[in-house]
Amino acid sequence: KVVAVILVGGPTKGTRFRPLSFNTPEPLFPLAGQPMVHHPISACKRIPNLVQVFLVGFYEEREFALYVSSVSNELRVPVRYLKEDKPHGSAGSLYYFRDKIMEESPSHIFLLNFDVCCSFPLPNMLEAHKMHGGIGTLLVIKVSAESANQFGELVADPITKELLHYTEKPETFVSDLINCGVYVFTPTIFSVIQEVSLLREDRADIHQVSSYDSPQLAIRSLPSDFVRLDQDILSPLAGKKQLYTYETMDFWEQIKTPGMSIKCSALYLAQFRFTSPHLLASGDGKRNATVVGDVYIHPSAKVHPTAKIGPNVSISANVRVAAGVRLMNCIVLDDVQIQDNAVVMHAIVGWKSSLGRWSRVQADGDYNSKLGITILGESVIVEDEVVVINSIVLPNKMLNVSVQEEIIL
Ligand code: GDD
Repeated sequence: KVVAVILVGGPTKGTRFRPLSFNTPEPLFPLAGQPMVHHPISACKRIPNLVQVFLVGFYEEREFALYVSSVSNELRVPVRYLKEDKPHGSAGSLYYFRDKIMEESPSHIFLLNFDVCCSFPLPNMLEAHKMHGGIGTLLVIKVSAESANQFGELVADPITKELLHYTEKPETFVSDLINCGVYVFTPTIFSVIQEVSLLREDRADIHQVSSYDSPQLAIRSLPSDFVRLDQDILSPLAGKKQLYTYETMDFWEQIKTPGMSIKCSALYLAQFRFTSPHLLASGDGKRNATVVGDVYIHPSAKVHPTAKIGPNVSISANVRVAAGVRLMNCIVLDDVQIQDNAVVMHAIVGWKSSLGRWSRVQADGDYNSKLGITILGESVIVEDEVVVINSIVLPNKMLNVSVQEEIIL
């Protein structure tokens, strides 16, 4: 038997997704029309003998209750949300729920970060892991040397694929091969985490010093039940014939900003062509709107046949799109109204917002810069003919003049 654990973190992590994380936990923010965590969960379905998916986080239970029951029904995979009373770190949170995770005596445990976007080649990882042996196998990918330092950099043996060296977000370049945040472990991982935690308890007894005295000691004096997978487990275990790597040649991105959510939405929409073509809209401008490239339109949304949609557009529930509207590279959230001839490009339009006639909500589409996409929070009103460029607008604002490169608080 196999189980999967998806780490969803908690509200403190959501700050980078402001103003979109005000009313939706980041893991439930839609990419390609599906909540972000939906993509890894449906990938888990392809794992042979999968018996359970756990979402582990410190969000309130009620924030996930509805989603967990609907996804369990829809995908026919039991999904459970396990709530930590406080953050325990990426390895500590796994350990905290060890009894629940081991309830069905699984032989393997997948561990996935919720905020990565990839094709999740999980069955292949499991095969590779069985071949290599050891405690775990990490999904890894080659990225550009300039961007590698945002991730865990690692060195693997080109022949045996053993993880030889691991450094989390190093200041000086180690390698362009990085950790994708997707792992498969045997249950031995629990003893390894326990050892780290016990070691830390011992050290805490010796070093009863204020954590302000030295950053080194601050790390030592982390609570003993707070264990990070990367620094505390992967680094010390590298080169001991316990960890192996599986390199993906497919797409992989980390979703830390709203801009990246538009990019990742495009990647998942493109993947739908192979995995779920029925989710992609088609239209020729006669009975339905003209559709260009990959587009998702929720069945309850109403889009006028003279609108032109795509590429990379995802339209959520109960959205109304009027005549002559042009949408591209955008995510339009539930209950939005878009009036005649409005244009939305490189933007996220928040729940219940309304865009007036001939209005424009757009940006230059630089996903890595702060104002590279325009974001409207919940219930924003953009009046007729108003133009909003490269801006972030907080919830409940009414815009009656045009703005450019502004954060409207
Ligand atoms: N439940 C829970 N509790 N989840 C947590 C906690 C916790 O206390 N702390 C972190 N997480 C989750 C996050 O929500 C995320 O899914 C994952 O653990 C990793 O988060 P971080 O520990 O903040 O690391 P990171 O995202 O900056 O980097 C990690 O992932 C990269 C790949 O995306 C590292 O492992 C990097 O090496 C790696 O490249």
